Amino acid sequence: MCGIVGAVSQRDIVPTLIEGLRRLEYRGYDSCGVAVHRDGAPRRARSMARVNALARTAADMQLEGLTGIAHTRWATHGLPAMQNAHPIFSRELIAVVHNGIIENHEPLRTMLIGRGYEFVSQTDTEVVAHLIHAFYHGDLLAAVRAATALLHGSYAIAVFSNDEPQRMVGARQGSPLVVGIGAEESFLASDVLALEGSTDRFIFLEDGDSADLTPSGVRICDRDGNHVRRPERSVVQPRAEGSLGEYRHYMQKEIFEQPDAVAQTIAEAEPLSTLLFKARSRDAFDAIDNVLLLGCGTSHYSGQVAKHWFESIARLPVQVEIASEYRYRQPVESSRTLVVVISQSGETADTLAALKHAQALGHEHTLAICNVAASAMMRATKWSFLTKAGREIGVASTKAFTTQLAALFVLAATLGRIRGVVTAEQEARYRLQLDELPAALRAVLALEPQVIAWANELAMCEHVLFLGRGPHLAIALEGALKLKEISYIHAEAFPAGELKHGPLALVTSAMPVVVCAPNDGLVDKLKSNMEEVRARGGRLYVIADVGTHIEPGESMSVIELPPYFGPLSSLLHVLPLQLLAYHAACIRGTDVDKPRNLAKSVTVD
Ligand code: AGP
Repeated sequence: MCGIVGAVSQRDIVPTLIEGLRRLEYRGYDSCGVAVHRDGAPRRARSMARVNALARTAADMQLEGLTGIAHTRWATHGLPAMQNAHPIFSRELIAVVHNGIIENHEPLRTMLIGRGYEFVSQTDTEVVAHLIHAFYHGDLLAAVRAATALLHGSYAIAVFSNDEPQRMVGARQGSPLVVGIGAEESFLASDVLALEGSTDRFIFLEDGDSADLTPSGVRICDRDGNHVRRPERSVVQPRAEGSLGEYRHYMQKEIFEQPDAVAQTIAEAEPLSTLLFKARSRDAFDAIDNVLLLGCGTSHYSGQVAKHWFESIARLPVQVEIASEYRYRQPVESSRTLVVVISQSGETADTLAALKHAQALGHEHTLAICNVAASAMMRATKWSFLTKAGREIGVASTKAFTTQLAALFVLAATLGRIRGVVTAEQEARYRLQLDELPAALRAVLALEPQVIAWANELAMCEHVLFLGRGPHLAIALEGALKLKEISYIHAEAFPAGELKHGPLALVTSAMPVVVCAPNDGLVDKLKSNMEEVRARGGRLYVIADVGTHIEPGESMSVIELPPYFGPLSSLLHVLPLQLLAYHAACIRGTDVDKPRNLAKSVTVD
C-alpha cells in the first residue's frame, strides 16, 4: 500500500528519502518516486521498477535537495504508469504525495478544470495538488488546510511548495501519518519503520491534524485550526529483518521462524494472567459476558479459529466479524462485550474503522492483538497483547497468524480462569501444551519434503478445493487464501459438511481436494466427506494426525502429522498449507514475497 516519506533538513535528504522508501517496500507497491525543492522548479525522479532503480535514476539526475518527499504507490485510481506515479506536481509549484482515496475527486476535478487546471494523470491525488495550488498565497499550511477541508475520503499527504524552501506540511484523515523529530531536521512518514536510523522520536498525528514542519521543529493544528500538542513518543524499532540466510524468500524464512515466534509470544504468558493485557483489565474482564472478534484476511481467520476456544474454554458467546463488513452495520450491541481487534500491522484501514465504529456504538472494553507496538490499533484500544513474531516482510502472513493464535488461546484461557470455568488443573494442562507447542511446530516443519512433492503436483492445477471442520475449517480457509494469494491458483475452502450442498458439483478427477484431518471428535464425519469426493473421482491430499487411520491409496495422498495436539491442533495443521502455497508459488515462478496487486499493509478502504 502507498508509503510516504518526507524530510526538511539542512543536509541533502535524497539518500534518507530513498532509504525510507526501501523500508516501506514491504507494504507492496507498483511505482515509486521522489521530489525535491530546487531553485526555479521542483525536480523529481519516478520509476515503474523497484526502489533500487529509482535510486539509480535519482543518482543519474544528480537529484539532491534539503526538502523533499517520496512515495511508493499502490494503484487505486489510474493504472500503474509513470504519469500516475507520485510525487504529483501542480504547475511546477506544489508537490504532493498521498496515501488514501479521495472519494469526491470527480466533482473536484470538474471544478478545477473549470478553473483552468490541466490534469496529466488519472490519479485522485492530482485533485489534491491542484486544490492546494488554487488556495496557495504564500502560506502552505493555510493552503493545505483549505484544500483538505473540501476532501471526502481518506488521506495522508506530505506537501511542499517550491516558494517555501524549508517548509513541508502534512495532513491526515483516515490514513496513517507520523512526524519524526530529528536534530535540525523533521520528517513525515507512513510508519515509523521508514525512519529507522533517522530518528526514534515520533508524534502520531490524529485524524484531522495538519503538521507544519521546518528543520527546527513542528507545529500541529487540529481539524478546527487550533494549535495542539500531541505527545511525543520514543519508539524502539523492532530488530531489522536481517539477511535471508539459507532461505530463498522472506515467506519461507518466516514460516520456519514460527516455532521461535510462538515461543516468544507465549513466554510472557507465564502464568496466564490478566497482567498480560495491561493493568486493571481484571475488573473489566470480570464484567464482560461475550466477545466480538474483528479482523481482515488472515487475521479474520485467526478469529474464526479462536471462536472455538472462547466457546469451549471460556464458555463465552462469540461473534467473529470481517472488519470491512462490521464497520458499515448497525448491530445490536451489549455494553458487556469485549471487542478484540486482530491485526499484524495494526494499521489496516478496515479494522481500524471497525474499531472506531465499535467505540462509537459505545463499546468501552477494547483489546488489540497486534504485531507492531507503535501501531494505531495498539494506541486506540484500552488493552493490548503484542505478539512477538518480529517484523513480517512477506505479504503472505504466516508467523503473524500463528502468534495471533497463540495470543488468542492465552486470552481464552485467561478469561476462562477469571470466569471460574477453567480449573487450576486445566490451566496447568494448557500451560503444558503451550510449552510443548514450539517443538511440535518444528516436527511439522520437518515434513517439508513431503509437502514439496504435493506442490509439484498441485502447481500444475488451476483450481484446488480445501475442506475442514470445526476450528480446522478456518485453517482450510487460510490454506486456500495462502495458495491463491501467492501462487495465483484459484482455491476455495468449504466446511466439509457443506460439500454435498453444492461444491461437490465441482469435483472431478481434475479437481484436487486438500483436507485438514485432525484426530478430533469430527474425524469420522470427515472421513465420510472424503469418501464423497473419492466416489466422484476427486483426488484427495489429506493432512492427517497419526491415529486417524487414514491410509494413502488410489487418489489419496496422506501427510501424517504428530498425534492430535488438542485445542492447539490448528497451529500445527496450518504449517503444511503455508509450505504448500509457498512451494507451489516457487514452482510457478511468482514473486512470492510481493504477489501481484497486493500490499502488506492495507491502509485504504
Ligand atoms: C494474508 O496473507 C494477507 N496478506 C492479508 O489477508 C492480511 O492478513 C490482511 O490484510 C490483514 O492485515 P493485518 O493483519 O495487518 O490487519
